[in-house]
Amino acid sequence: MMSNATLSIGGTNVEMPVLSGSIGPDVVDIRKLYAQTGAFTFDPGFMSTASCESSITYIDGDEGVLLHRGYPIGQLAEQSSFLEVCYLLLNGDLPRQDEYANFTRTITRHTMVHEQLSTFYRGFRRDAHPMAVMCGVVGALSAFYHDSTDIADPEQRRIASHRLIAKMPTIAAMAYKYSVGQPFIYPDNRLSYSGNFLKMTFGVPAEEYEVNPAIERAMDRIFILHADHEQNASTSTVRLAGSSGANPFACIAAGIACLWGPAHGGANEAALNMLREIGRPERIPEYLARAKDKNDPFRLMGFGHRVYKNYDPRATVMQQTLREVFEALKINDPVFEVALQLEEMALNDPYFIEKKLFPNVDFYSGVILSAVGFPTEMFTVLFALARTVGWVAQWNEMISDPAQKIGRPRQLYTGPTQRDYVPLNQR
Ligand code: CMC
Repeated sequence: MMSNATLSIGGTNVEMPVLSGSIGPDVVDIRKLYAQTGAFTFDPGFMSTASCESSITYIDGDEGVLLHRGYPIGQLAEQSSFLEVCYLLLNGDLPRQDEYANFTRTITRHTMVHEQLSTFYRGFRRDAHPMAVMCGVVGALSAFYHDSTDIADPEQRRIASHRLIAKMPTIAAMAYKYSVGQPFIYPDNRLSYSGNFLKMTFGVPAEEYEVNPAIERAMDRIFILHADHEQNASTSTVRLAGSSGANPFACIAAGIACLWGPAHGGANEAALNMLREIGRPERIPEYLARAKDKNDPFRLMGFGHRVYKNYDPRATVMQQTLREVFEALKINDPVFEVALQLEEMALNDPYFIEKKLFPNVDFYSGVILSAVGFPTEMFTVLFALARTVGWVAQWNEMISDPAQKIGRPRQLYTGPTQRDYVPLNQR
């Protein structure tokens, strides 16, 4: 049932509709507030603002629930595959067998990149951060694939979406290969999405590359866990960039740029660095004390989340995946013990309990990726690879909405009021 909220402002009462979604908190529809009152709302960081309507992903941060098109992330991570989750995010339902086969074939067919794109990499220094390379190369895709940049054409949007999902592993692996001075490896379409990525990253032309099934499965699961996450900073960036009508390749490059920040996708790199710095369990209390000290900017990386005020359900799967990878590779790294003990001590510490700070997806992912052989600089690249489908699905949802408008927030202006220009020689 639709209800109204009443706001009293400057002696006038304004009625605003309260809208309900299928689940989750109601929203107060303030779209007419400015027209009716001349006032804006003020919500930096979007703490109380729903920026759009969406039917893709649902998060209940208090309960630690994450659903993609209604399916719990734990079930998808356990039973599905990354490409199936891609189909689900893009199309709204799980595919039938023929639909899944067609989708897999289509994505597989698009895995190669234009040969000239490889020369693009050589413009970067060898020691460039691979995320810098990703921002540049993905942005450059619009110069190579003109035939899928007309956003008004649903077929072109579909092709661009498939191209982005299919080419991202190739582009990411090439960024890695360039940084280590090894030749680029072409995609091998006999392999799975994740197996192919592992081969393009760790294979060399001089040797046969055998995909380790346990690592392939772990990689696929990590991709699933990062596939989408509602209106996070990078997704909102993609939507905002796309709202002006920018082409999808440019929008995804904008998302990659946003993801790079340490408070977002860069956190797994920061979390692993922190765990390595801690080094041994005896030093954990020292770091916990620093995280709690208001005068110390240090934060426990991989802990806390804007939305989750409970255990991040992705962290649960990550911890399990970490065990599997360590077992498959017979790794005995003290960093795992540090991570487990740090988690336990933080979860029992009044500061973290009171502020509802729990491990997030990034707490364990860095340890896994490092065990698989990725250097830390590649972690955010892998996040970008997996999140591409989420960005693309959200971008498509926005563009196909007939009510879509350019995103244009307003502000609370606190600068100087109007004043007259004084010529330079009189100042
Ligand atoms: N360690 C210590 N204290 C923390 C931490 C932390 N990791 N996270 C939050 N707090 C404290 C913070 O100091 C603040 O205390 P007070 O109320 O006394 O000022 C309170 O908890 C609330 O923090 P906030 O910064 O206002 O919360 P936010 O919602 O703006 O920030 C966050 C969320 C993820 C940026 C933050 O928790 C953080 O910096 N965590 C570490 C970085 C990290 O792991 N990021 C990955 C996020 S998950 C992956 C993704 O979605 O990209």
